[in-house]
Amino acid sequence: MTKTYKITLLPGDGIGPEIMAVTVEVLQLLGKQLDLEFQFTEALLGGAAIDATGEPLPSVTLETCKQSDAVLLAAIGGYKWDDLPSGQRPEAGLLGLRSGLELFANLRPATILPQLIEASSLKREVVEGVDIMVVRELTGGIYFGKPKGIFINENGERRGVNTMVYSEAEIDRIGRVAFEAARKRSKRLCSVDKANVLEVSQLWRSCITELGKEYPDVELSHMYVDNAAMQLVRNPKQFDTIVTGNLFGDILSDAAAMLTGSIGMLPSASLGAGNPGVFEPVHGSAPDIAGQDKANPLAQVLSAAMMLRYGLNEPVAADKLEKAVLQVLDQGDRTGDIFSPGMNLLGCKAMGAALLRAMGE
Ligand code: IPM
Ligand code: MG
Repeated sequence: MTKTYKITLLPGDGIGPEIMAVTVEVLQLLGKQLDLEFQFTEALLGGAAIDATGEPLPSVTLETCKQSDAVLLAAIGGYKWDDLPSGQRPEAGLLGLRSGLELFANLRPATILPQLIEASSLKREVVEGVDIMVVRELTGGIYFGKPKGIFINENGERRGVNTMVYSEAEIDRIGRVAFEAARKRSKRLCSVDKANVLEVSQLWRSCITELGKEYPDVELSHMYVDNAAMQLVRNPKQFDTIVTGNLFGDILSDAAAMLTGSIGMLPSASLGAGNPGVFEPVHGSAPDIAGQDKANPLAQVLSAAMMLRYGLNEPVAADKLEKAVLQVLDQGDRTGDIFSPGMNLLGCKAMGAALLRAMGE
């Protein structure tokens, strides 16, 4: 019997619609081949939503997402909306989506593919074999803590305020996701904090240490975030699974991503309890190349693979998509961001066509 899945598509801004179009075609073919039916519903988020409705996250978008089995998001943001106040920017839509669906766990794998070693800015011997999973807390910390805002002092001076706050329960639930993820990998978990300075990090460290007693098979270590940034570029292979708060995870996941050569290759999964997950590339909306058919659709396609694996429990379909991506890379097909001399330079659409051929259209 054909299995049916309701997928909400949020193409967003910049290169978003281009990479989403490729991914939808790929999913449609995959569905035909594996007897899965994807029912796609498109909704507005970010700048596209601001232009159409005045809000970055219209309530109908959140509702549509809640009623689906999984959400596939491309990217949001662009120069056009940069001057809006923070609560009205495209980014506010993304943060509202994460908190509206209670997606507290963000999984960001950074795996170097042998085909792309030359695209990394680090030496081959440093990055060869890198396989890291960053587990980033996504609905707490300084992104959401209160008080927040720009306030005016008695003397008329403005003060900008954000608050980094974590409760034990928030630390515990992200900790569990990370320990479970580490268990499925090579059983090493590094918790990253700033416990030498921040009280919130001292609580973080103490909760993660306590939780570690329930996972005696996982080797737990702790690292300060400044050192972790340095170690990621010095000797990334020492890391397997990393767990950290929202802000540190934002920063470290970009650094980890770049080890692999291009942020244009990396997918992510945002998961919570009860609501559908959101699957999106780590990269942004790249407004500088939007509409030029230059974008790399592979992170979006790999996000669809994560959706199949973690959101819909369809591992066979996920494997098939990931295999198609490896095959086009083996053939030497490259978009501009991962191009090196001697390879075939393709645009976004042509990369999509190459994927369809690799899947045996
Ligand atoms: C990310 C992005 C977002 C974040 C922005 C666009 C709000 O950088 O997903 O990493 O800071 O979380
Ligand atoms: Mg980021």
